Amino acid sequence: FSAFLTDTFNRQHDYLRISVTERCNLRCLYCMPEEGIELSPSARLLTSPEIVYLSSLFVSQGVTKIRLTGGEPTVRKDIVPLMQQIGDLRRHGLRELCLTTNGISLHRKLDSMVEAGLTGVNLSLDTLDPFQFQIMTRRKGFEAVMKSIDRILEMNKAGAGIKLKVNCVMMRGVNDREILPFVELGREKPIEVRFIEYMPFDGNKWNRGKMFPYQEMLAVIREKYPTLEKVTDHKNDTSKTYRVPGFQGRVGFITSMTHNFCGTCNRLRITSDGNLKVCLFGNSEVSLRDIVRKENDGQPIDASAMEHLQLMETVHTAARIHDEGGLVNEREQEILDLIGM
Ligand code: GTP
Ligand code: 5AD
Ligand code: SF4
Repeated sequence: FSAFLTDTFNRQHDYLRISVTERCNLRCLYCMPEEGIELSPSARLLTSPEIVYLSSLFVSQGVTKIRLTGGEPTVRKDIVPLMQQIGDLRRHGLRELCLTTNGISLHRKLDSMVEAGLTGVNLSLDTLDPFQFQIMTRRKGFEAVMKSIDRILEMNKAGAGIKLKVNCVMMRGVNDREILPFVELGREKPIEVRFIEYMPFDGNKWNRGKMFPYQEMLAVIREKYPTLEKVTDHKNDTSKTYRVPGFQGRVGFITSMTHNFCGTCNRLRITSDGNLKVCLFGNSEVSLRDIVRKENDGQPIDASAMEHLQLMETVHTAARIHDEGGLVNEREQEILDLIGM
């Protein structure tokens, strides 16, 4: 395994998350204001050849899983050809190609994505009620999301093997009546529903009172389903997984606020404008885009990835600086304090 992607905590970063756009076709309460966010000028965003180039570089250094995120990745016009090219990296060691999506337009692109090599979908859905959906996302589209879920299940029946997880951000007083209905979803359907503790991001009006902690969700579920049992988690999972005996699906909890999992975090992140982040909460970023563009006059480099160790050293240095707390700024510190680190 490449030493370049191993940080000073001996965490091996073999999982890369790439944001392919900041744009989104929804306006979830906890994520974006109604008017949307200010978009970066397109010249600052990574081009598809740059995304493919960086992906191949990271795969050559030991990354085996790539997740495309957003914003909403499916609103990127060339998302399917992009996935085809990233999917080709399977020949060089990529084992999983995943998507985190709100599912609004997924059903239209799913078949070609699976052909391109898509192996997993994490689908964001915070309510099972179409009216509540419109309140929480400030848009219509519940039926389209359900259509995407059904299409995945249908393709899986035919052997597609797409790992499907539903991400549900739980907010007190907003959708906390729906904990049990979401668990119930797994009775007949092989879906993993993951409840996520509401996290503070810039401008999302987070407060502790709106957060619904893991232990409390667990208590609510145990009361109705006393047989709920723990399932062994994989080493780098963000979630704690449970099952109700007899149910096809599973239930997970992403406990970012009450039980952080930083010690086993194996993720690297590239923002849509090409910055490398070693921590979701961190604001310390290094521009991979500038390095890639500078070396080749704006064109992605096509020479053998191994020759570009300078880039990898940059990655490693970023991880080290982060570990040493060198770049923790006020905002980051505030959040680290909140989660008790
Ligand atoms: P898989 O484990 O591959 O299924 O994906 P994931 O859970 O890492 O990714 P997903 O995009 O579905 O994100 C689910 C939730 O986990 C989101 O709320 C993310 O913000 C959160 N999350 C993802 N990675 C991290 C992380 O490194 N640290 C923290 N604190 N939260 C994370
Ligand atoms: N707190 C918790 N989860 C969030 N997500 C977006 N914003 C927040 C937040 N403030 C979730 C989305 C998606 C995943 C990538 O992150 O619902 O499922
Ligand atoms: Fe944010 Fe995702 Fe909702 Fe879009 S779908 S507003 S990116 S949480």
